[in-house]
Amino acid sequence: MLKTKKRIVIANWKMNPQTADDAWSLFSGIKKTASKLRFVHTIICPPATYLLDLSDSYRGKNISFGAQNIFWKEKGSFTGEISARQIHDAGARFVLVGHSERRALGETNENVWLKVKAALKERLHVILCIGESERDESGDYLHFLREQLESALNGVKAADLNRTIIAYEPIWAIGKTGEDAITPDKLHEMVLFIRRVLVERYNKTAIDTPIIYGGSVEKENAQGLLERGVVAGFLVGHASLDATEFSSILKIANETKAL
Ligand code: PGA
Repeated sequence: MLKTKKRIVIANWKMNPQTADDAWSLFSGIKKTASKLRFVHTIICPPATYLLDLSDSYRGKNISFGAQNIFWKEKGSFTGEISARQIHDAGARFVLVGHSERRALGETNENVWLKVKAALKERLHVILCIGESERDESGDYLHFLREQLESALNGVKAADLNRTIIAYEPIWAIGKTGEDAITPDKLHEMVLFIRRVLVERYNKTAIDTPIIYGGSVEKENAQGLLERGVVAGFLVGHASLDATEFSSILKIANETKAL
């Protein structure tokens, strides 16, 4: 599925909206546009409580659903956790792993690795989030990113890389305004760096691995980031909570065809 040349635009609703009614209206608003776009695969990652209802309501191919997190154990006494199997059963085909907001709550590279393995074992697609919190002149952040990437993919086979999306989300750019996002040129450098790390490990298999960007994507900066940043798509936070704004981003992605 990921070999498609479609753009990938992911809505990360985080802990929003507060009621199922509001989740329903937000999804209905997004669906009007998302269901019609030929060149965009939209992936909605709602809070887990809304996953089953929303995914049950849509039968088309242009929209898929994802969870925002999973636990790595298959089942058992893990109060409050949700397994890969459970989110799969609730309609998720994708899962965000290693989002910076989860890492800020204590998730380690090892936890991320265990979650990647659990998700792939359940035949889910992994959206692996990596990103530095700040940049330094000597380029230590590149080592940091390499470590996040290599540790999460440790032991992951080339065949499973086809079910992996890399979301580059510099923490300094998350949750701000479009003006604080990365510049397209800097983004392109990061895409090349990430691609190189992947190719070192997976050779040709990694050429098609989608690398997407997240961090204050809005309709104003979407086109430049796609075209000059040379990313496969976006992971969108706050702008995905407004159906009109998110639909504008989807339309821009649809018109800015992937290479
Ligand atoms: P943002 O969030 O678009 O609000 O910056 C992105 C994310 O955290 O995935």
